[in-house]
Amino acid sequence: MFSERTNWTLVQNPFSKAVEQAHADGAKILDLTASNPTRVGLEYDSRAILAALGSARALDYDPQAKGLLVAREAVAGYYRDNRGRGGKDVASNVSTERIVLTTSTSEGYSYVFRLLCNAGDELLVPKPSYPLFEFLADLQDVKLVPYPLIYDHGWQMDFPSMERGVTARTRGVVVVHPNNPTGSYVQGGERGLLNAFCRAHGLALIVDEVFLDYELEDEDMGHASFAENRDVLTFTLSGLSKISALPQMKVAWVVTSGPEGEVAAAMGRLEVIADTYLSMNAPIQWAVPALLERRKNIQWQLLERVRRNLAELDRQLAGQKACQRLSVEGGWYAVLRVPVTRSDEELVIELVRKRSVVVHPGHFYDFPEDGYLVLSLITPEGEFREGIGRLLQCLSA
Ligand SMILES: Cc1ncc(COP(=O)(O)O)c(C=O)c1O
Repeated sequence: MFSERTNWTLVQNPFSKAVEQAHADGAKILDLTASNPTRVGLEYDSRAILAALGSARALDYDPQAKGLLVAREAVAGYYRDNRGRGGKDVASNVSTERIVLTTSTSEGYSYVFRLLCNAGDELLVPKPSYPLFEFLADLQDVKLVPYPLIYDHGWQMDFPSMERGVTARTRGVVVVHPNNPTGSYVQGGERGLLNAFCRAHGLALIVDEVFLDYELEDEDMGHASFAENRDVLTFTLSGLSKISALPQMKVAWVVTSGPEGEVAAAMGRLEVIADTYLSMNAPIQWAVPALLERRKNIQWQLLERVRRNLAELDRQLAGQKACQRLSVEGGWYAVLRVPVTRSDEELVIELVRKRSVVVHPGHFYDFPEDGYLVLSLITPEGEFREGIGRLLQCLSA
């Protein structure tokens, strides 16, 4: 009765079962996977956020495929403000004509996959990375071909593997900048190689920049956005769920850039896709300028949280030798390398059952082998400190 693309294994995995059981048993769980920013004790400007949603202009229905101009202007303004990232004084000039609003990055991905791929066509995706790709690809009948990120004093793209992954059906390359959960940006030198690679094989570039602003090292010089990448057809995805820590508002976008003719052709088709759904509602579009502005009140709180948790993690790691953390350049996550005395799944289940600590096993993010745990650095600090203490105790027991 059902399509093959929905033949997912729907049984709960043993880890989720263990977490559910621990909650049912009434255990006080320390959740080091907390990634919902609305529930980690940040101070939102509630009044400004709610006031933004009440515009009387939303009483008018003005169906615009790309989204209302007022919202797209605010998004263009965000890129203008980000000008200078990457140490270059590029006059950022993201035109409102090249922006399409969507209700989520996921919707943005599905529009772009639909635009580029016939059923069975292929996209290169980083590994380890964001677990949702698999589902997004299944739903659009796209085949994902992973290319490894290699850790050697920092994460690097493996271009020889990417070359081997290209077939006649490859349509594009997905990069996450910075990646979740490795926290690695596309480095300066890699950008040119990536463009050359895409040009050589006639591929589009799909760049997820939801964590772009959460750069830990040198946010002034920072890594530049791809929204102005002109060398190849590029779709840059981002949205309010991370930029303003407002995932519940369901606002995201796709910016198209690249050679002019290709951009015009892509935009024409994207507009038809967006027009078919018209998924943005009016109140939220009128609110976008104010909600984007709210990032100035929330990003520093998150960056402070992430930096403090990272410092606490390093302080506790300094007292032992069994595990290390991998380098993090940006984003909300840290990866711990742990001794492989059992599978990651067995380890995280033991942590839940015996220590009431929840962390994610690396295999959730497609790490190629056991020995990796993923921690959310936006976890409230007290919980993070105690959770790391219990985690390290368990590993040294
Ligand atoms: C890499 C990456 N992209 C996109 C998203 C989600 O964005 P949205 O809420 O706009 O779909 C996440 C959420 O964790 C993410 O990690």
